[in-house]
Amino acid sequence: MAGEKILIVDDEKSMCQYLSIMLKKEGYQVKTSNSGKKAVSEVSDSNFDVVITDIKMEGMDGIGVLTEVKKIDPTLPVVIMTAYASQKTAISALNNGAFYYLIKRAKNEEIKMVIRNALDMHRVKSENTFLKKQLRKKDNSKEIIGKSDEIQGVFNLVDKVADTDSTIMISGESGTGKELVAKAIHYRSGRSNQSFVSINCGALPESLLESELFGHVKGSFTGAIKDKNGLFKVACGGTFFLDEVGETSPAIQVKLLRVLQEREIIPVGGTTPIKVNVRLIAATNADLELAVKENKFRTDLYYRLNVIPIVIPPLRDRRDDIGLLVDHFLKAASEASGRQKTVAKEAMELLECYDWPGNVRELENIIERAVILGDGDEITTIGLPDKIRNHSHQRRQIIMEKAQMTLEELEKEYLISVLEATGWQKKKASSILGINASTLYRKIQRYKLSPEKLKQHA
Ligand SMILES: Nc1ncnc2c1ncn2[C@@H]1O[C@H](COP(=O)(O)OP(=O)(O)OP(=O)(O)O)[C@@H](O)[C@H]1O
Ligand SMILES: [Mg+2]
Repeated sequence: MAGEKILIVDDEKSMCQYLSIMLKKEGYQVKTSNSGKKAVSEVSDSNFDVVITDIKMEGMDGIGVLTEVKKIDPTLPVVIMTAYASQKTAISALNNGAFYYLIKRAKNEEIKMVIRNALDMHRVKSENTFLKKQLRKKDNSKEIIGKSDEIQGVFNLVDKVADTDSTIMISGESGTGKELVAKAIHYRSGRSNQSFVSINCGALPESLLESELFGHVKGSFTGAIKDKNGLFKVACGGTFFLDEVGETSPAIQVKLLRVLQEREIIPVGGTTPIKVNVRLIAATNADLELAVKENKFRTDLYYRLNVIPIVIPPLRDRRDDIGLLVDHFLKAASEASGRQKTVAKEAMELLECYDWPGNVRELENIIERAVILGDGDEITTIGLPDKIRNHSHQRRQIIMEKAQMTLEELEKEYLISVLEATGWQKKKASSILGINASTLYRKIQRYKLSPEKLKQHA
């Protein structure tokens, strides 16, 4: 990539010119500066990709420039040049964070190669910082949507526990937002600038999971060709999200207990414990309490993990959230696809009475699908999958049947109470009930009511 900006610092004008001509020919933008002090202010004023500085200068020397530049931008590579090779100055330059150490008489090819490498490293570092920021922004901007009491309760808990180091156990069916809540806690905590590392304990076979979590030492098993850091070490200073913790084997459960009790890990095949500083958040979609009763999950580990339980109810138990979530996913899908859509009233009714076995994730997928596949500006019932249309039909019937039964039962109860209160005087009863005598008579027949029968029942 041409056009990268290089700053050359040397109080010897001819050297500046020489390097400048050579590097401009390579397609770089070059600036020169003949004092250390000026060079530092250049660096703070504009964006350079590499700095080359002479070591021996009047006033601020090369090491001084290096130190000041690193204060302004620690990722900016600085190459130090000297007239004579001296091991002592070379070491001191490298110790102070110089990228490389060049002798002024070095061949042009060597100088160009060092500059090329320094630029590559700077680019990779900047990309890395950029990507990390992007990722943080993306994760961080994911809001937890919902107005139901249930979700408000979850919000409150997240706020209360975020800035502590307490271990948290999130439980909820698949797709209810366990990982979303775990990330919300991380990004609201003092650890938010460190990593959020997550692993799905159900997705890996036991031996692999163990070495992923705790690392291993070289030679501890076939294929362990060198030492490997476990994720607990990688997550140091940050938050560790243990997804599907109920899927772990007894051996791993013992090791996890050690992490929680001693705050240390022992790599597979190792003997020396390593201290770890992580905040643990575990998640499960299984009934862990039941697993404990059935001796499938260690009781002691359960209590260590379950310090602060957060339960996310299934979407069907907080239907108030469906409307807001639909709007939210509609907006996201519209932005991503460039198609603005709304949801028709009947379609919305279907969405509100569906049972959502896949919870919020299922809703998100269905909206995205409807936005992409549907024609027109509106998502209608036709744009929804069969399972949602059929489900709603069945549900409506059940509700109607139930409603009818209750109404009839209510009427029967009411009739009986009035008839008993009037001692079965039909005329008096019908006037209290506000119906005429023949209607009352028909109803008595229909419900097969008689004083004798009721006494038998009583
Ligand atoms: N309340 C919510 N507001 C906005 N988006 C949500 C909400 N709950 C879940 N989601 C979204 O639904 C999807 C599923 O959430 P997440 O992965 O956190 O669920 P999970 O409980 O971890 O599921 P699983 O058990 O399958 O791993 C994600 O895209 C998430 O952003
Ligand atoms: Mg998950």
